[in-house]
Amino acid sequence: MEYRELGRTGWKVPVLGQGTWGIGGFHSRDDSRDSEAIAALRLGIELGMTLIDTAEAYGAGHSEEVVGKAIAGLKAEVFVATKVSPEHLSYESVIKSAKASLSRLNIKTIDLYQVHWPNPRIPIKETMRAMERLVKDGLVRFIGVSNFSVSEMEEAMASLAREEIVSNQVEYSLLERSIEHDLLPFCEREKITVIAYSPLARGKLSEPKKYLEKHKADVLQTLADKYGKTPSQIALNWVVRRPSVIAIPKAVKLEHVKENAGSVGWSMDSDDYDVLSRAFSRSYW
Ligand SMILES: NC(=O)c1ccc[n+]([C@@H]2O[C@H](COP(=O)([O-])OP(=O)(O)OC[C@H]3O[C@@H](n4cnc5c(N)ncnc54)[C@H](OP(=O)(O)O)[C@@H]3O)[C@@H](O)[C@H]2O)c1
Repeated sequence: MEYRELGRTGWKVPVLGQGTWGIGGFHSRDDSRDSEAIAALRLGIELGMTLIDTAEAYGAGHSEEVVGKAIAGLKAEVFVATKVSPEHLSYESVIKSAKASLSRLNIKTIDLYQVHWPNPRIPIKETMRAMERLVKDGLVRFIGVSNFSVSEMEEAMASLAREEIVSNQVEYSLLERSIEHDLLPFCEREKITVIAYSPLARGKLSEPKKYLEKHKADVLQTLADKYGKTPSQIALNWVVRRPSVIAIPKAVKLEHVKENAGSVGWSMDSDDYDVLSRAFSRSYW
């Protein structure tokens, strides 16, 4: 596994973590695949994908419970990221949500606590005051945001008295490149880690022939053949090419977990990276 510094914290996190949207359910609790998900998360940890991303909203809290079971006894090696929902961003609600997440995860400290989505009805200053309280009390190690624009990030950053925003979790993949215009350059300048969600475009990049137009599918497959990798591995390797980006693919199937872990530890030639970037640039859509 390769590691990168999280923001300016001095902490190293793996370039590939594990997402959990759908583990434990989507919008409501679903425990029918818990043991499969626990096995997948444990295998991912073994293979070095030790950052796990969840949220209080996933499976109405059950995703955090599944993660808690998967990491029981392994907390020392796992970096746990979770998120507070936009309807819980008042001072009291943030504190209450964090405590509830800690209890479901069965851990003492959330390594990265992220604001899941901005909520214009609640002043970000109030939310950040609660976040800093949680850090002061040792319940949270680092503060992050998700789905924040540059101006929302600037506001959040200016609201913090002692801590820093260390990450912004946003969608980024070969098929979703909008952050390249301003958010990614901003995060690179400010040394804020971009946590790329849906890095496989929810599985579309894993099956290029089925989901992509011919030119894109051909370029992806040609590079996969050249490097002896799969299209998913090429797509994930591309996402984490920029040094401030890490990615959190979600996989429950064990063969997907293994395949994803093999996406890093090697790199494409810069010419190939450019060819791939161009093939998936907007002008081809
Ligand atoms: N902050 C936010 O607002 C936000 C929004 C969306 C997602 N996220 C986070 O980002 C994580 C990842 O995003 P995502 O779940 O939307 O999409 P994703 O990781 O791009 O794709 C997940 C899908 O791809 C499949 N897959 C994974 N690896 C594969 C492989 N090697 N070959 C073929 N198929 C593969 C998975 O199947 P199996 O599960 O069957 O293996 C699953 O159906 C989420 O789980 C969540 O933690 C955050």
